[in-house]
Amino acid sequence: MASYLSRAAPRAFNSGLRAAAHARPTTRIQAVQRPAAPLFRRFLQVPAEQPRLRLGSVAPNFQAKTTHGDIDFHKWLGDSWAILFSHPADFTPVCTTELGAFAKLKDEFEKRNVKMIGLSADDLSSHQDWVKDINEVASTNLAFPIIADAERKVAFLYDMVTEDDVRDIAKKGLPFTIRSVFIVDPAKKIRLMMIYPASTGRNSAEVLRVIDSLQTADKNGVVTPIDWQVGDDVIVPPSVSTADAKKKFGDVKEVKPYLRFANVGK
Ligand code: BEZ
Repeated sequence: MASYLSRAAPRAFNSGLRAAAHARPTTRIQAVQRPAAPLFRRFLQVPAEQPRLRLGSVAPNFQAKTTHGDIDFHKWLGDSWAILFSHPADFTPVCTTELGAFAKLKDEFEKRNVKMIGLSADDLSSHQDWVKDINEVASTNLAFPIIADAERKVAFLYDMVTEDDVRDIAKKGLPFTIRSVFIVDPAKKIRLMMIYPASTGRNSAEVLRVIDSLQTADKNGVVTPIDWQVGDDVIVPPSVSTADAKKKFGDVKEVKPYLRFANVGK
């Protein structure tokens, strides 16, 4: 597997960044590199109690420092849906485009009762400076909290790390945090997990589309087909008889006895 996070790559990557970000302090640039102090390495271990993450399991709770103050994740969630999404490091190009895009979709997420919370493996002061860059680059006003996870506490809890990095932890030090997205519902259950490689920025429209699908499914007792968008026909699940589906949805188009479409509107 090509590693975009090898010890050599970020250095080359950072020197490019350094040239581009002429005013950026060196400490910010170095945030992408792995801390690997020998003394620290001896004690560094993946937590033994990393919970199993499954669709339908309760999203593990945690307390963390964020750009909006200290939070308890479950309390912060309240009765909302949420997306928790992680990033390898501050002041990195792909992450900057991702956070800018999500910040611009604030109204779309709010309409769906979804709170956003980002995570990046740097400290608060770095996050605060980075947010200024994101706002400038994307002409936005990023309004959601970003977790400071320099110690990878949340990254380990949610398994936001690669196999290689965990295997080499004693040699290389703290792993990078990969691009994960968790959609959590108001019952605090995990409803979706997406894990992207460092080389690939996410698709914010797909995150919204899945939220629409989940909320439509929950509300109407239906499922949604490939590439479904709000307003398209939904699928009557096999557990519902055609007679009951007609009572509930009116028109039901039966393509096959097991493939029946209905429309639940927008
Ligand atoms: C980024 O641009 O977000 C990125 C690219 C490579 C490694 C880590 C982060």
